[in-house]
Parts: sequence; structure tokens; C-alpha cells
Amino acid sequence: MNDYILEMNSISKTFPGVKALNNVSFKVKRGEIHCLVGENGAGKSTLMKVLSGVYPHGEYLGDIVYNGRTQQFKTIADSEKNGVVIIYQELALIPELSLYENIYFGHEIMKGKVIDWNETIVNSREMLKKVKLDVNPSIKVKNLGVGHQQLVEIAKALSKDVKLLILDEPTAALHEHDSQNLLKLIKQLKEQGVTCIMISHKLKEITAIADTITVLRDGATICSLDCQEQHTTESDIIKHMVGREMDHIYPKRKNHEFGEISFELKDWTVEDPIKGREILHNININVRKGEIVGLQGLMGAGRTELALSIFGNTTKYNITGGEMFLSGKKQMFRSPKDAIKSGLAYVSEDRKGKGLVLIQDIKFNTTIANLESLTDGQTINENEEIRIANDFKNAINIKAPSIEQKVRNLSGGNQQKVQLAKWMFVNPNVLILDEPTRGIDVGAKFEIYTLMNELVKKGMSIIMITSELPEALGMSDRLYVMSEGAITGEFLAEEANEHNVMAMAIKS
Ligand SMILES: Nc1ncnc2c1ncn2[C@@H]1O[C@H](COP(=O)(O)OP(=O)(O)OP(=O)(O)O)[C@@H](O)[C@H]1O
Ligand SMILES: [Mg+2]
Repeated sequence: MNDYILEMNSISKTFPGVKALNNVSFKVKRGEIHCLVGENGAGKSTLMKVLSGVYPHGEYLGDIVYNGRTQQFKTIADSEKNGVVIIYQELALIPELSLYENIYFGHEIMKGKVIDWNETIVNSREMLKKVKLDVNPSIKVKNLGVGHQQLVEIAKALSKDVKLLILDEPTAALHEHDSQNLLKLIKQLKEQGVTCIMISHKLKEITAIADTITVLRDGATICSLDCQEQHTTESDIIKHMVGREMDHIYPKRKNHEFGEISFELKDWTVEDPIKGREILHNININVRKGEIVGLQGLMGAGRTELALSIFGNTTKYNITGGEMFLSGKKQMFRSPKDAIKSGLAYVSEDRKGKGLVLIQDIKFNTTIANLESLTDGQTINENEEIRIANDFKNAINIKAPSIEQKVRNLSGGNQQKVQLAKWMFVNPNVLILDEPTRGIDVGAKFEIYTLMNELVKKGMSIIMITSELPEALGMSDRLYVMSEGAITGEFLAEEANEHNVMAMAIKS
């Protein structure tokens, strides 16, 4: 047996109008952690779906040698039987089922003709122990946070006797602490002999964990970097990914001036009606015209709750005190629709759940939230609609053959870009962005930041929630820090650094 567990040779895969993979070669050494990187739409997820039988033999060109043998996987079950397990970019657990039902879903333990639930529960407990998740296997998946759900996915992979584990952006939705946990677990699995392929846009993680890095660009392999042989830096990766050097990641706003206060909360206090307790306490914040304000904090600090409570989610959040002012006018929104009408928009952190209509195309999704601006009262000006959608597609480089492409068929990062385009087109006075660059590649991040800069230059106010502190420091004019549902600090951009922001984030 040679020391490669996997060799994918000259793989090509075409979708209608898109050559997703063009003669890709990809080799993975036995027992290593191999990171697969590249811009949004480069073909990373597609390559892994070819490997795992999602796109069966016959739907692609080239060959796959796994464990010394040429393989022609026809289904996912086929590849799993051989120890290849893929965890998808979007979590695939079933929220309403228990952990043990999820872990053995699709490969149930049978006793004769019936499922052996006792054995299922005992084994699940064992698997959860292996990923160091100390919870009862009988609880429902929906009661776990995303970080823990990701661990359940890995427990599920372990229950299938995984030899080659593929993780597609496993930390994209995780906060720093959960991410670190997950990376530690991947390293432990490596010590136990599991080979791992990880796709990620988080370059810091990649340089910390990778034995080898392969870069894809436009459906082709650019290079493979051996990190043990040669120290690899983030800027090395960027250079190969985007094909040029990027000496600054955050575009600067020049000669920038702020206008009057466009949005303000005074003593904003919110109760969770289900739990019956106060979750946000006397929040005082404001944003001026032309300003980008960062909202920082650790997981559970209450940032998303704050955004949602502002945005008229009256069933989930009881406003028990305080006032909100939008463009000087006192407001209290009854629904998100109400908020949008008054000039406030919120881009949610969860793109698959809330943001997009996946079976519709880019054009539809870009313009849907502001169709009024395209009608003369009776009909929609289609030419204008096409122009707008194309403008956004170009500005933030949405990778697709045309604006008629269904959003479902876009790569993860490009779906996120469509969601941003949609709310930017609403052209609100105040735009709240929750994790706007999640799953977005470094090059495209720059384009999104540039667009944010253009928007504030025209007078928009932006509130940005991000779990990436460097991004907050790089883009904000001012930052608020939250901890346990309260504001614990406020900094001007020039005063803020990782230390003083973190100190406020852990303050109670
Ligand atoms: N089912 C599909 N139908 C049509 N085109 C598709 C389909 N799946 C993927 N594509 C296209 O193939 C290309 C590669 O997509 P892929 O999802 O592999 O990118 P990726 O590298 O994983 O990107 P990201 O970092 O954004 O997740 C993209 O242009 C994408 O739009
Ligand atoms: Mg992908």
C-alpha cells in the first residue's frame, strides 16, 4: 500500500452552463489533515461530492483511487461502507429527532427486523463521549447550539467507522471557543489514525492545523503546499487563492464625515416571554449617518437577540422598557415588515433558513424585498430588475453563469452574497449585518467591505455583528461590546484592540 489514502486523478464535472471541475488532481496522504481552500465557487464542495458518491460514477470524468483501489462509488452509502464520510457545509441533522436517532439515522442497528434501540442508545453514548460531548443522547438536536450539533455530526461519522473524514466548512457557523474545540478534536482523530480533509475560509485555522494545503481556483488545482516541509503563512495562501498579493484586507474610507444620529436605543430592555426572564438590560447605543458601528461580544452575549428584538420579532421578544429612534422618530416595530418599511433592514446570520428562496434565481432573490421600487403601480419594470441584479452580481462578484441561475445551485459563499445584495438593494437608512462574511473567501470579503464603504459614504448607517474580531477592528468606526445582555464597553476604532475589547467581552 502506498502512503496516499486517496488519489483523485483528472476529475472533471460539468453542470448546465458551468464547468465546476476541470481536470482536477488531488492527493491525500494517509493520516494527515489536508485543507482544501479556494475562492467561493472554486469547486471545493463539488470535488468532495464527487468523492463521496453524491455525484455518482458516470456523472464525472476521471478516476478515484482510494486505499489502493480504483473506486466507482454509486451512492453515499457506497462510499460510507468504505469509511469515507462527509459532513456537509449546511448541517444535515434532523432537529426534531433525538441525538441517538440522528447518529444512527440511515444505518440503524437492527435486531432481526426491528431497530435495537437499547444498543443504539448505548453506542450513541459511547460516540458522544468520543467527541467529548457530555449530554444525554435522548435530548433533541434542536436543543443544542450549532457548535454542539457539529460535534453530533462527528459522533455520527465515528459511528460509521470513518477512515477518511471530510468536513466542509465545519467552523463557519461556530464561535471562537467552539471552533477551537472542534479543531482540537480533529487533531485527536488524526492521532487515532483518521485522515481528514477540511474545507475552510478561515486562514488562521488552516495554518494552525494543516499538514498539506491544496488550493483550487476556477475548478482547477493551483498547487499543493506541504506545511511540514515549508512554513506556510496566511498571505502565501491568499496569493495562490486569488492569484495576486493582497497587502490590505480592509479597504479604508477616505475623508469620511458622519452626519446626525440615525438610529438610537435608550435603555432598551427585553424579556424572553418563554423563559420569562430579562435577556437584554438597559441597552444604550447609537449610530450616525455614514458610520459603521461594530457590535462585539462572545457567544450568548445577546447580539443577535438585540438585532431581532429591534427588528420587530414581537412573538419572541417582549420589549419591557426603553425607546427606539429611527431618523429622529420614535418607533416600535410590530413586525419585520414594519421595520423594513421604516428604513431598517436586518441580514440574518442563517442564510439557508431565513434569507433566500432557494428554488428561485439570483434576479428574483436580489429584488424581492424591494419590488415596489421597480413598479409603476401595475407592472414590474423587468429591464430595470435585470440591470439591478446584474449590477450587484458584478459589484460583489457573485459567481454564476447568469442572474437566471437558481440560488440552490450556487456555492455556499455565493448564496451569502445574494443575501447581502438583497438587503443592500432595499437601501435602508440603517442596515444591521449579522455575520455578513460567513463562508466568504478573502477576495470576496474585500469586495463586500468596499460595497459597505460605498453605502455609508452615501449616508447609510451600518451596524455589524461579527464573531471575527479582526474584521470588527478593521471595518468599524466605533465599537460597542456586549456581555450577558448588557453593553459593557464602547471604543472608537483608533482606541480598540484585541485586548481591551476582549476584556469588556468577558466582563459580567
Ligand atoms: N447543482 C448545481 N447546479 C449547477 N451549478 C452548480 C451546482 N453545484 C455547484 N454548481 C456550480 O459549480 C461551481 C462550484 O461550486 P462549489 O459549490 O463546488 O464551490 P465551492 O468552492 O464549494 O464554493 P464556496 O466556498 O462558496 O462553498 C460554482 O460555480 C457553482 O455555482
Ligand atoms: Mg462549498
